[in-house]
Amino acid sequence: MTTVLRTRAELRAALADAPRPVGLVPTMGWLHDGHRALMRRARGDNATTVATIFVNPRQFNVATDYTRYPRSEARDLAACEAEGVDLVWLPPVEEVYPAGFDTTVSVGAIARPLEGAARPGHFDGVATVVAILFGLVGADRAYFGQKDAQQVMVIRQMARDLAIGTEVVACPTVREPDGLALSSRNVHLTPEQRAAAPVLRRALVAARDRWAAGERSADALRDLMWETLTAERLANPEYVSVADGETLGELQTVDRQALLSLAVRFGATRLIDNEPIGSRTG
Ligand code: PAF
Repeated sequence: MTTVLRTRAELRAALADAPRPVGLVPTMGWLHDGHRALMRRARGDNATTVATIFVNPRQFNVATDYTRYPRSEARDLAACEAEGVDLVWLPPVEEVYPAGFDTTVSVGAIARPLEGAARPGHFDGVATVVAILFGLVGADRAYFGQKDAQQVMVIRQMARDLAIGTEVVACPTVREPDGLALSSRNVHLTPEQRAAAPVLRRALVAARDRWAAGERSADALRDLMWETLTAERLANPEYVSVADGETLGELQTVDRQALLSLAVRFGATRLIDNEPIGSRTG
């Protein structure tokens, strides 16, 4: 049975006698199989699984993106129930940000490039809400999807710097059979845009394969991703990146662990995806 909680006080009371370890799955709802995979993993690793469902206004740098974000409480609760989540926190905005709330958690260098540059303020919003969730839940582990690879790095840095004892666990991206990464935003794609959207994966795989065949010029890989994306009429690429896998600084030569990543617009819908290449030992 999933217990639904709305206030900070209810959440704290429910957690007081919850069996440990506790696993946390923070979400913004409109749950899909990617979230459900995180919940299954959390459930396998922990005695208590907590999910949070909160569309966080502070991480949307474009107001219309916040208002059009898909929401369905009934659908989300059914998914939590099916995955055996013990506690779901579904707070109103004022429970997360009570009157007088006046703190922003701002992570440094790792939050600046890529999504940080494309969406000013986004990672401040993410780091702030996740710090609140980590503080409230006091989980042993928290689970995030690797589709948002930079988000995982930002949250790890935040937890390390603020001495928060929650282990950040990154889980593999879940994909549709045609390669499109699952995302709550996919619901906004028209049928034509949905048919075109696997081009993100094709671009990443093309670059990964070219790298595996020996290409080490980052520009050559960036060009290949860009050309693959622009060959798709409905795709408007925002950036392609071949970055150091630890710092996210753009590379000239792929001589270390690296992250291929991209952001692409289909009309008003913005999708991201990534693929790690290389190894820590180079
Ligand atoms: O990845 C998300 O859904 C959100 O950024 C998160 C981590 C739940 C914070 O609002």
